[in-house]
Amino acid sequence: MKNLLGSGDLSKSSAIQMLDLADQIQQIKEVGGKSISPVGLTVANLFYEDSTRTRISFELAEKALSTNIINFSVNGSSVSKGEGLIDTARTLQAMGADAIVIRHPSSGAAKILADSDWVSASVINAGDGTHEHPTQALLDAFTIRKRMFGSESTGKDLQGIKVLIVGDIAHSRVARSNLVLLKTLGAKVYLVGPPTLLPSQGFESASETHYSLDDALEIVEPDVIMVLRIQKERMSGFFIPSEREYSMLWGLSSERLSRLSESVLIMHPGPMNRGLEIDSLTADANHSTVLEQVANGVTVRIAVLQTLLSTDGKNVGF
Ligand code: CP
Repeated sequence: MKNLLGSGDLSKSSAIQMLDLADQIQQIKEVGGKSISPVGLTVANLFYEDSTRTRISFELAEKALSTNIINFSVNGSSVSKGEGLIDTARTLQAMGADAIVIRHPSSGAAKILADSDWVSASVINAGDGTHEHPTQALLDAFTIRKRMFGSESTGKDLQGIKVLIVGDIAHSRVARSNLVLLKTLGAKVYLVGPPTLLPSQGFESASETHYSLDDALEIVEPDVIMVLRIQKERMSGFFIPSEREYSMLWGLSSERLSRLSESVLIMHPGPMNRGLEIDSLTADANHSTVLEQVANGVTVRIAVLQTLLSTDGKNVGF
């Protein structure tokens, strides 16, 4: 496997292999394991869009693998002088980048790099526009598997697990990548949100679509609720009546949580708009996996980098 551009790049067996590798890495980390093969590979983190979790966890993963790291932020770079994406990637490649982790506001930016004859480095999509965020989907699947199966996780898929994705699905690369990966792993995916935030295409493989959160919670009886951030920065018009009405109708509140099973998992990829799509009591409840998702992001990204960098006779390991 050379690139990871979307969840569709992962077959069921390769996804389970990646999650199992993350499991092994987590066990090694828990007993204080250190990187074992500093081989001088270089990873460039190419961030054209802001990020806290993804950028820092990739950097920590790269340090765990003893790779050299190039951190590129668009602010302060020669992008302001008109340098394009491919020229920027080629420049970093000329300085030794074996892999490029890219976050970009344009859907398809990662594929443009991967398809370019000029770019030979592995390309990992760290979120492109409203399109895909495959490492987020992997860390979410890893988190669900860990919560559901604990130390018995290895080799397990997510067959029959019901995941309800709530909110701003139209603008969400997290929802797109999760739908594909969760389906690959055998989960059932349900969607709920206001009609203006439900996409007209690309989500046909979801089991059901609802417009009322209260109805969806009652009908679906989900094992996992994945709450999405309202992405105000990607909205050019009016998509929700008002923030107050959105939180009343589609926000996950402690009152709604009190009607659900004790074992339901509450996930959010972050950053959260507390008081809008989720209230603070719910975000911080025992049901919530928000900070586990963040921690698992490092482990899963070590697994992704190790898998991609170990192809083509390269040798990298944790
Ligand atoms: N979930 C996620 O991608 O968060 P960041 O934007 O902080 O990386």
